[in-house]
Amino acid sequence: MGTFTGVGPNPQLMSIGVCYFPEHWPSERWERDVEQMAEAGIEYVRMAEFSWAVLEPERGEFDFEWLDEAVELIDDHGMKAVLCTPTASPPGWLVDERPEILQRDRDGTVKHAGSRRHYCFNSPAYREETERVVREMADHYADDPRVVGWQTDNEYGCHGTADCYCEDCADAFRDWLDERYADADELNEAWGTTFWSQQYDSIEDVDVPKPTPAQDHPSYALDFRRFTSDSIIEYNRLQTDLLEEYNEDWFVTHNFMNLFPSLDIYEMGEDLDLVSWDSYPTGHVQEAGESSHDELRAGNPDLLSFNHDLYRSILGKPFWVMEQQPGDVNWPPHSTQPAEGAMRLWAHHATAHGADAVVYFRWRRCLEAQEQYHAGLRKQDGSADRGYHDAQTAADELLDIEGGAGDDGDSEGLETTDAPVAILHDYENIWAIAGQEHAPDFDYWALLQAFYRPLRARGVSVDVVHPESDLEGYDAVIAPALHMVTADLVDHLTEYAESGGQLLFGPRTGVKDEYNKFRPEPQPGPLADLVGATVDQHESAPGHLETTVAPVDADGASDDLPYRTWAEWLNPTTAEPTFEYTSEGITAGKTAAVRKAVGDGAVVYCGVQPEARLGDELIGALLERAAVPHAGALPTGVRATVRDGVTWICNFTSDEVTVELERTGEETTDWRLGGPELEPFDLSVADGDVIDRLSVDDD
Ligand code: GAL
Ligand code: ZN
Repeated sequence: MGTFTGVGPNPQLMSIGVCYFPEHWPSERWERDVEQMAEAGIEYVRMAEFSWAVLEPERGEFDFEWLDEAVELIDDHGMKAVLCTPTASPPGWLVDERPEILQRDRDGTVKHAGSRRHYCFNSPAYREETERVVREMADHYADDPRVVGWQTDNEYGCHGTADCYCEDCADAFRDWLDERYADADELNEAWGTTFWSQQYDSIEDVDVPKPTPAQDHPSYALDFRRFTSDSIIEYNRLQTDLLEEYNEDWFVTHNFMNLFPSLDIYEMGEDLDLVSWDSYPTGHVQEAGESSHDELRAGNPDLLSFNHDLYRSILGKPFWVMEQQPGDVNWPPHSTQPAEGAMRLWAHHATAHGADAVVYFRWRRCLEAQEQYHAGLRKQDGSADRGYHDAQTAADELLDIEGGAGDDGDSEGLETTDAPVAILHDYENIWAIAGQEHAPDFDYWALLQAFYRPLRARGVSVDVVHPESDLEGYDAVIAPALHMVTADLVDHLTEYAESGGQLLFGPRTGVKDEYNKFRPEPQPGPLADLVGATVDQHESAPGHLETTVAPVDADGASDDLPYRTWAEWLNPTTAEPTFEYTSEGITAGKTAAVRKAVGDGAVVYCGVQPEARLGDELIGALLERAAVPHAGALPTGVRATVRDGVTWICNFTSDEVTVELERTGEETTDWRLGGPELEPFDLSVADGDVIDRLSVDDD
């Protein structure tokens, strides 16, 4: 990792950038493009992604002239270049020469050239070629201060390319297993292969997954997913090590994706100086399921901010949005036009959640190829599109907002978010549950969101962190799906609660060991003492089964609170029952949630996936116990976020919204931007942390 502490002309200030592909346009056009970027207040220009065939049209014949010219123009206009290694799209001549670099599907089908991401992470040939091209680029720009940082490749795993099933991968998988298991006996024991006669005589007999009549062995599947993630991390490390070798001051990042399950970004984060992701709000919301009218226009703020909070929380590194939707996009089922002002709203919302830069993808709508139906900040004729005006407004406003940040009016930028609550998240648990969801609608991310949404609906800032992170600074910690737990993790969580922390577990906790096998003792296994209850039964429930719980001391049907998908019947031992099932039939009266005082803190176990009202109840009570300041319940689509003593209020709805700020004394509110009245898809920024005085009229 380099010595990166900030980038660009104004290190660590909040900025706007753009992704530019000069190679798609005649060079006579570039100067005008770059001028118009500068006029919009753009500070960073990302280039060279996918440009391998232009950079190296024939083996060993490198052409940097075009990129040098673009870098120079960018510098002439006071901006900084961020370059990408071009490895996401190996050129045709390379594929012809070394076809063994191509990925294979599970059934052996080759993923041919003709689009992108067609290479295998474990191919020794591709690693050699990667080293060659990265060295060449890094060497060319090593002493060039106009280039401030690098993005490795593009969106590892996009288009279902995290897994490859080729012979190189099979060899690498066996090596990976060899390092972990002494021999086949140990592996057989660890996985439990006696079932269905799946024993291996030798690790040499283990293959990558192939088409099979029934599902994969879950322990084998978990190790294959671990191996896949490790393969990508190792491939990326090859690139980050090379870049660091040439210039330690460059920042190196990779652009991650919306709720991407196949890559352990906590591990990859160790090799990065800055973490970034690609945000396409109207697309992501369609991936998540049915979307409301407003969501089709501006996305779901909680889905977006969950990603921001996740990527911002990685090892405390600086955080960017590396691709921001600029207008309509080509890939979701429906290509809706974002609301008026949405591109401005997204930049502010990301900044509020900790982004130091928001980089729009792309500069100009393309006349050719796969992404013609994708907007840019400029239209295909070069004129300004809706996104350009929004980006320009956002750039101006961000400068003003941070201008007020220092006491003396000096522009110092804003520190990152300081969150009182953490949600625990990790990849091993996603992989362990995958394949054994046990309900068609079970979704790990949706379970996390069920606890995240009510926090955001009260304006509470949340870090999304790995379970083994230092938890000391958090007033409350939520662990929605710790399916696999180790003894160390039990100690870590016990210590947190004993020293005064408020801990809330969700369902499916403490079920499995590290090999994805059921534990002999009842769920939640080694957490049973801390929780003060065990799980007697579990079931998954379709939506039309009656699924409600109520507080134990409630009397009356009006207190029925719906849950969904998952239900556990709890046997309290040392904990108090807090919610019980009110559904008719065999669940009636059984315990659904418990609470136990532990040391100076408390532990709650909730055995169901809460729907909105139950989530609100649980989180409301948690925040009270943890004494976390929060806003009054905000309406769906209206969100407030504090960053370094500045409060952003974002309206993701087509309604006008009026913000109320309660006055307990003489305090007045200064607005850095806007005021208490928000237009549809508008935002305001108040000076100071006003969260605990804030409410919104919901008529
Ligand atoms: C991203 C990708 C870009 C472009 C964009 C289109 O996922 O990184 O290269 O394809 O989607 O929205
Ligand atoms: Zn492969």
